[in-house]
Amino acid sequence: MLQLAPSILSADFSRLAESVKEIEAGGAHLIHVDVMDGHFVPNISFGAPVMKSLCGKTEMPFDVHLMIEEPDRYLADFATEQTEYITVHQEACVHLNRTISHIKSLGIKAGVAVNPATPLTTLDCILADVDMVLLMSVNPGFGGQKLIPSVLAKAKELRRIKQENTMDFKIEIDGGITLGNVEEAVDSGVEIIVAGSSVFGAERPEQRTREFLDILKGGL
Ligand code: DX5
Ligand code: ZN
Repeated sequence: MLQLAPSILSADFSRLAESVKEIEAGGAHLIHVDVMDGHFVPNISFGAPVMKSLCGKTEMPFDVHLMIEEPDRYLADFATEQTEYITVHQEACVHLNRTISHIKSLGIKAGVAVNPATPLTTLDCILADVDMVLLMSVNPGFGGQKLIPSVLAKAKELRRIKQENTMDFKIEIDGGITLGNVEEAVDSGVEIIVAGSSVFGAERPEQRTREFLDILKGGL
């Protein structure tokens, strides 16, 4: 099943719960939670308390994307009952297997993310152990950037590796997804689609969510 995960990075933080309810009413599947530390990426977003303020305000599970150094120090903070995935960056983990095991030990599905310039070969030794691979389609740090097209070839290659080895991780794409390119992303093999500014920047995020889902339904 294809899933849409709107990123609250582009939501109006002064009315976060209402914004989340709008996309839930539109049928979104997950809430993408972009955590930035000002070190791994050149921006600071928010931490676990902001995410936890949404616990119980929505039924959508959290899809946590940690763009932070030393993620092990903070994993437990993000492991709520509503957390489905915690994803860490390959580039930020010195002991990646240990960090992935740590996430799983908290009862949460574990994801690994790679920046656009990081080759898939860096994941060779971890693919069998993860529940999700997040392909960054922009350089992380900011919403509203343009998708880097070479990432679509990377998605196709990852789908091939997954099928050939009968692995069952999900492939997620994150960055620059719009109504105009989401179909091409799906055709390239991605299964979870993050969309920030294109959902929350719309005049009616609920309606925009429905428009995305109508396109995804073609590929469901
Ligand atoms: C990028 C974040 C993304 C981003 C998506 O640093 O990880 O989740 O906010 O936003 P858009 O869809 O606006 O590129
Ligand atoms: Zn993200």
